Amino acid sequence: MKQAIVGAAIAIMVCEAASKAGAEPKPSFTETRHPLEPRCAYVRDLDILHRTEADVAALRDLFKSTPLLIFPRRAGDKGFLSPAELQEFIKEFDEDHDAEALARPADFPNRMLHPFVQIPGVEHMSPRGFYSAPELYGIKNFSVTPEEVLADVHLWHTDLGGHPFKLPNVVTGFHFIKQPVIGGETDFISGQTIYEALPEPMKRACAQIVLELDRGAFLSGDTIVDYAGAMKVRRPGSQRNDAAIQCVPLLYGPEPAVLPQSGFLESVAGWSRERSDAWLRKFMHDHVLPHSERHSLYTSLAGGSNECANFNCVKTSTARRRFSVQWRPGDVAVLDNRKFVHAAAPYMRYRKYADSDQRLLLQTFLPTHRPLTYLPPREWDAAALVDAGWAADAQEADDAVRAARAFFDEKCKLKSSDCGTCASSGGDGEGVPTAPVVCGDASGGGAAEAPAVAS
Ligand SMILES: [Fe+2]
Repeated sequence: MKQAIVGAAIAIMVCEAASKAGAEPKPSFTETRHPLEPRCAYVRDLDILHRTEADVAALRDLFKSTPLLIFPRRAGDKGFLSPAELQEFIKEFDEDHDAEALARPADFPNRMLHPFVQIPGVEHMSPRGFYSAPELYGIKNFSVTPEEVLADVHLWHTDLGGHPFKLPNVVTGFHFIKQPVIGGETDFISGQTIYEALPEPMKRACAQIVLELDRGAFLSGDTIVDYAGAMKVRRPGSQRNDAAIQCVPLLYGPEPAVLPQSGFLESVAGWSRERSDAWLRKFMHDHVLPHSERHSLYTSLAGGSNECANFNCVKTSTARRRFSVQWRPGDVAVLDNRKFVHAAAPYMRYRKYADSDQRLLLQTFLPTHRPLTYLPPREWDAAALVDAGWAADAQEADDAVRAARAFFDEKCKLKSSDCGTCASSGGDGEGVPTAPVVCGDASGGGAAEAPAVAS
């Protein structure tokens, strides 16, 4: 006992000495990495409402390397965060957040990123899910349901990706109030993890193409996807709508991240729908979705030969790209929307299940001033597409590279109406010198609104 008391006294003296010496206060939380994707972490024991400066500094650091943070409800917590409390917390994760738009949303309609129901006084926050109540957050006769096109498909997307005039948010925030017992999860795939696992020829190739997206065609049901979100399904007779097409890179920066937005894909720029659909399906199956490792397993198990070309050889899967997060009431989540694609679990098969008929979350797409970062290649190299197996011949490769080059030539000019920063994706050499260019209200406002989608 005496030893314990002496030990405690020494500990107090050490703390006091550290305090007098100006030692940094320590953050109050602990973190656990997601077992399938270390770029996702569960942050425990943080008192969100009484976070300290040390907490915030450590969380910002963590968010740079771990762009999906989940804050499970602490034991003993009562109630939920209010929309305003949640917004104040989410703001900590984007130092470039658009304070003007948050404070005066009516003055900046093009910087209101979500198209959903707005909460009076906290308009950038929206209640989502499937839920109704006589009144919720000051909204009378509140009722929300998910979009019908998401009933039975995984829509792999980034929030606002390919929007005609809104600058996609850095941070998407969630707070779960009611969750189904079965269903209601969100699936994520890290664009950085996809990129890192690509064979070298594909790493080179993915900087050489851009994607043409049409968000409206998906939401109208003209060009949807299969359940897995890998195979395009075109409504018979539907036509490409040139006026609605928005080009986006496949590869974003500053850390290389491949973000295949399969749901909104119209085509790979320069290619026909048929060619693009075939590329998408193979790319999603082989390099994005989790059953993609079979071929590499054959190769490694058979020592590079084809001896092991039957399914019995596959004993385990090494795929760790796609993972599901099953939310629980009270969870808060902060997502770097420019580093992951995500998809809500299709709701058709669980929503009428007992105990699974309600879902309610608060969601925000936080407006930002941070420009997108593009990573055009240091050299245009159509042969890279042939090497990667993406183009059948030089002509097909040239067609895609010509279209990509036109996109980057346009985006990487320093213009006040541009929305991006260009850096080089190539090797160890010097990057293309650039300066940030920020989208403002003048960046195309007035175009037709394209709805965002559920998470
Ligand atoms: Fe989303």
